[in-house]
Amino acid sequence: MRKLVVPALVVVSALYFAPHAVAQQAAAPTFNKDVAPIFFANCTSCHRPGDIAPMSLLTYKDARPWAKSIASKVADGTMPPWHADPQYGKFVGARALGAANKETIAKWVAAGAPEGKASDLPAAPVYTDEWNIGTPDAVLSMQEDYPIPATGEIPYQYLVIPANFEEDRFITDWEIRPGDRRAVHHLLVYLLAPKEVVEAQMKRQTQMALQRMFGGAQANGAPAASRPAPPFEMACCFQIPDGEEGGRPLPPEQRKDPGPNYRARPQGMAQGMGGFSPGGSIRHFPEGMGMRIPKGYSLVFQMHYTTYGKATTDRSKIGLKFARTTPKTILNTMALINASFAIPPGAQNHMVENTMTFNRDTVIYSLIPHTHVRGTGWHYEATYPDGRKEVILSVPKYDFNWQHEYVFTQPWKVPAGTTLQAKAWYDNSAGNKSNPDATRTVTWGDQTWEEMMYTSITFYMPPPPTTSAQQQ
Ligand code: HEC
Repeated sequence: MRKLVVPALVVVSALYFAPHAVAQQAAAPTFNKDVAPIFFANCTSCHRPGDIAPMSLLTYKDARPWAKSIASKVADGTMPPWHADPQYGKFVGARALGAANKETIAKWVAAGAPEGKASDLPAAPVYTDEWNIGTPDAVLSMQEDYPIPATGEIPYQYLVIPANFEEDRFITDWEIRPGDRRAVHHLLVYLLAPKEVVEAQMKRQTQMALQRMFGGAQANGAPAASRPAPPFEMACCFQIPDGEEGGRPLPPEQRKDPGPNYRARPQGMAQGMGGFSPGGSIRHFPEGMGMRIPKGYSLVFQMHYTTYGKATTDRSKIGLKFARTTPKTILNTMALINASFAIPPGAQNHMVENTMTFNRDTVIYSLIPHTHVRGTGWHYEATYPDGRKEVILSVPKYDFNWQHEYVFTQPWKVPAGTTLQAKAWYDNSAGNKSNPDATRTVTWGDQTWEEMMYTSITFYMPPPPTTSAQQQ
């Protein structure tokens, strides 16, 4: 009884006698009461000792010196890093502070960033080095402590991770654990086909080319148009000659010795499995769904390292959980690419587009938009068979340094006949601080001074319709 009465009296008297004090209290948020909960929920996954961000925001002492910078990065939307327009699509791990939190931070900094009462401080989140997916069935690791210098830029490195499973494995969960969290800015995982698979594919391609040359289009007796579409088959790999990176080879005078620590893209790199970027490193596929690592295949980590003033090493690893039985739904990846563009020197807002039409019902699990340092934005729009249009993903502030995999919270169901249009924008002007050379016409290539218009799409085919006899 008393417990109910006392707070009611306090509230009434505070309002009655001291409206001014109440207003002032609301106008001056404190770290302990108002700001720490926002940081714990939105910032400290990266802003903690040993992780990617340059400073910790876990305690008042850590955060106070950064107050001004925090106010400006939060106000202009640079932090927390998330580059998609929130009005389109819902994505796993989307980061957005919301207007109320932004205002709290701005007011806190404007009031001199007060600490507040110790008793108001909630418990800080606990970060563990344990696996968050539970005990993995297999942990696959880089085979070396990759050396990272104290300063300078490091081109992408490709590290081979042996798997060599003796049978196909279906993955239901994976978690990537960077060796040095401060240095790993992103990590993309690809399958690597064994030598015999690469050779068999090359042989098949040669045969197909010969068939085409010598009238092979009629080879099975039916005109091409009347033949049924072949079942979907996982492509083995990108065919890039040994020692090359894709794109046009550089003229000899521009070729640099990449040094002893260069790990080139290996022959036989096949489809992607997904990626790690700071603050998020786990995939848990819905019930009945999995990703296949075929027998004999290995993995490749594409590593984007950033230096942070101290020489270090990295040995990243991936933990995998296997399905007990073969999942009904297998995830695959494909790419939507336009490789035949030329971005004129100095162009500030050059657009490159491409479209694809789905010839069967498909479900899309995630998208990874990828351009290099001149890329500034992406936009994906679907046109459904009934003519309806829908923006699927918009990335108006694309940043090469943040390679996000946009995983739909509800996988996107794409009916056959839908067209997906992708547009990418590039800034090849001197005004783009990341532009290595504004005087060049830029074309496709693997190197960051060249460009790409590349979207990796993880998808699955919906199960065929069940007959009424199969339904319960
Ligand atoms: C996904 C990881 C991540 C999250 C989440 C994140 N940050 Fe950052 N933050 C970084 C990284 C990395 C940098 C270094 C600059 C860069 O790479 O963009 C940075 C830089 C900053 C800076 C600039 C520091 C300077 O040098 O002046 C501020 C301020 C900042 N973050 C505040 C925040 C706040 C506040 C939040 C939460 C609302 C937040 N960040 C969430 C990764 C993150």
